[in-house]
Amino acid sequence: MNNFTFHNPTKLIFGKGTLTQLADEVRPYGKNVLLVYGGGSIKRNGIYADVLAELEKIDAHVTELSGVEPNPRLATVRKGIELVESHQIDFILAVGGGSTIDCTKAIAVGAKSTDDIWDIISKKGQATDAVPFGTVLTLAATGSEMNAGSVITNWDTNEKFGWGSPYAYPTFSILDPAHTLSVPEDQTIYGIVDIMSHALEHYFHHETTPLQDYMVEGILKTVIETGPKLMSDLDNVDHRATILYAGTMALNGMVSMGYHGDWATHNLEHAVSAVHDIPHGGGLAILFPHWMEHVLETDVDRFKQMATRVFGLEQGHMSDHEFALCGIQRLRAFWTSIGAPVSFKDYEIDASTIEEMADHTVRLSDSFGGFKSLNRADAVAIYQASL
Ligand code: NZQ
Ligand code: ZN
Repeated sequence: MNNFTFHNPTKLIFGKGTLTQLADEVRPYGKNVLLVYGGGSIKRNGIYADVLAELEKIDAHVTELSGVEPNPRLATVRKGIELVESHQIDFILAVGGGSTIDCTKAIAVGAKSTDDIWDIISKKGQATDAVPFGTVLTLAATGSEMNAGSVITNWDTNEKFGWGSPYAYPTFSILDPAHTLSVPEDQTIYGIVDIMSHALEHYFHHETTPLQDYMVEGILKTVIETGPKLMSDLDNVDHRATILYAGTMALNGMVSMGYHGDWATHNLEHAVSAVHDIPHGGGLAILFPHWMEHVLETDVDRFKQMATRVFGLEQGHMSDHEFALCGIQRLRAFWTSIGAPVSFKDYEIDASTIEEMADHTVRLSDSFGGFKSLNRADAVAIYQASL
């Protein structure tokens, strides 16, 4: 295990009715609040009205930035930074899914740092400060509610980059599973895939980490058990709560101390989204099994462990290689069974953009991936397998 320091300053407030704590959480920061949200789901499900009622308790002056896109855009971040400056914003409140939260992180850091926000995102500049911000999460998927990461797309250059900074942790996040009841079927599927993908990105490394392995496997097994129950009963708040908590735990640092995971598949997916603007979880469902098949020989035992401990398979007379492949096939079958896409055809992506997407995977570095270092040619091979 590697040495590590763990520090996660986000206050997690979880459970039914917890939105009533919002006013007390915002009060210490001041009255000028920038409310950031997406395309309007919070107006349709009533969360918007409830949030405004809470903010009224502290006589907040609310400025709004709406229309944050799924796969949030740099242009929207820049709009938010202007609002922070022109309205002397004290506190930013994100109400929505990972896109709204990621956009808010970039606004918060961009408004207070000396370097330009795109330079910070593309690793040419440094974050130096942030406007304090909190979140009301409405979709279980990214873990952005309790981590320091954010993913922003520059649509002018077709670049989608993940970035992170210690200044990008929310001060608090309110997670009421009832707020996720209105998440439609497709987004629920993408969320389940994303949560499992975060666990899987952690899982593939070369350190000896028995406790962390069990924790990651615990998240995977819980989602595999609860995911299908939720898909057949989307109004079940207990299942929503289980998936919501799994999403936070999969990417808040708790299960990933002492090692670095792989993250090649996320890099591959961000390149696909940068060119085709597809949902993140949809892209992961297609790419992850192909990444696994591509890197299988790096450590067959790790894949056997997944087959045995996550999917409960028995090797029997199969060779190690066959058994490892069987585990990967089981993962693919699980995702297909809940309705996730399985090939680029599902998004009408053909071979014509593979070279362009592969270029994107190596924009920031010639190689990527911690379990097995991949290059541009590997990206092309994995994309071709995904057609
Ligand atoms: O925009 P609105 O109208 O709110 O609708 C959204 C959006 O259309 C809708 N939605 C959200 N909550 C809802 C709801 N609809 C009904 N009821 C609700 N309660 O769902 C759609 C998708 O929302 P979005 O925020 O885009 O989804 P998600 O949370 O999956 O975020 C995806 C983004 O996060 C990035 C992805 O790359 C992608 O850009 N990621 C961020 C990470 C992080 N910060 O740590 C890690 C991830 O790996 C990921 O890369
Ligand atoms: Zn993800």
